[in-house]
Amino acid sequence: TSSAMAKWAAQAARGFAAAAPSSGKGRKVAVLGAAGGIGQPLSMLMKMNSQVSSLSLYDIAGTPGVAADVSHINTKAQVKGFDKDGLAEALRGCDLVIIPAGVPRKPGMTRDDLFKINAGIVRDLVTAVGQHCPGAVLNIISNPVNSTVPIAAEQLKKMGVYDKRKVMGVTTLDVVRAKTFYAEKNGLDVASVDVPVVGGHAGVTILPLFSQATPKATMSAEVLDALTKRTQDGGTEVVQAKAGKGSATLSMAYAAALFADSCLRGLNGAPVVECTYVESTVTDAPYFASKVKLSTEGVDKIHDLGPLSDYEKAGLKAMMPELLASIEKGVQFVKGA
Ligand code: NAD
Ligand code: LMR
Repeated sequence: TSSAMAKWAAQAARGFAAAAPSSGKGRKVAVLGAAGGIGQPLSMLMKMNSQVSSLSLYDIAGTPGVAADVSHINTKAQVKGFDKDGLAEALRGCDLVIIPAGVPRKPGMTRDDLFKINAGIVRDLVTAVGQHCPGAVLNIISNPVNSTVPIAAEQLKKMGVYDKRKVMGVTTLDVVRAKTFYAEKNGLDVASVDVPVVGGHAGVTILPLFSQATPKATMSAEVLDALTKRTQDGGTEVVQAKAGKGSATLSMAYAAALFADSCLRGLNGAPVVECTYVESTVTDAPYFASKVKLSTEGVDKIHDLGPLSDYEKAGLKAMMPELLASIEKGVQFVKGA
């Protein structure tokens, strides 16, 4: 019924930013790539976030329709759509810029196969961020995240406006998947489950720390290995199921909206801890995802990994060559240019 729908919508809207100070300054948020598979549902979810007062929807095509559509949702955020010529205005004054622009995988491709196209897209969009809202928190979704985050950092360094507290790769979907699979396997209430996921965002660089999962569950080595591999291959599972029509969009939009909500809570003075891929000294890799406290300036404290099982120690060692190579490829793309 329509009243049931209205109740659902109100609950969903409260689900994000329920505890956020309602009298706090409303935030300006931009989604770059807003007309895409992730961009559209993500734009809708950001329109439903009570911490957002202004929402810029930017894409190279299709934004007038998406913006008109999303703008009819009866929440406070003022929505504007921008096309190619509107990037500067879309970004001016932004507190948070979310970037899901770029091509997705097809079956048989790795995320690194997207580098050729997406590296330039991310560099150019981040250049505009550096010009028009250099203090904004950046949430980078475009793949390969292991390389696009170093690209963003190096580009901002080149422009003299890099702040390592502001540049974050979104790895929340790995956490969302690990929670779902762990709860399902152990018959737990998924709402009560937490699983840290560290490393990067591609194949073996994704390392769920099931030894630190709560509530605790005892799993055989075989089950643990299967859960770890399913988390690492979650993206590929969706790419194969979509059979050429792209990769995860709906679960990704959900994950990105959760992470953006946490960033906004942090900016608004209510710190939150999330796993995210940032400049880091926790391991030998200069960029690494681990638990991070998000506060008024973005990254506040990067937590240590905590105690690892032997299986996880081996996983950490095994990911390093690929992670380091992906980081270096991103750094060289900007530095070597
Ligand atoms: P999509 O093709 O459906 O949408 C991408 C959008 O980006 C399109 O609307 C396109 O017009 C736009 N775009 C392209 N170049 C642009 C530019 N220069 N400026 C602005 N917009 C531009 O793809 P999708 O399914 O939404 O996926 C987007 C990206 O997100 C892919 O790289 C994908 O691999 C990645 N992804 C990351 C995660 C993660 O966990 N971090 C999860 C899923 C997907
Ligand atoms: C995901 O994890 O779903 C994304 O990184 C998209 C992909 O290519 O797998």
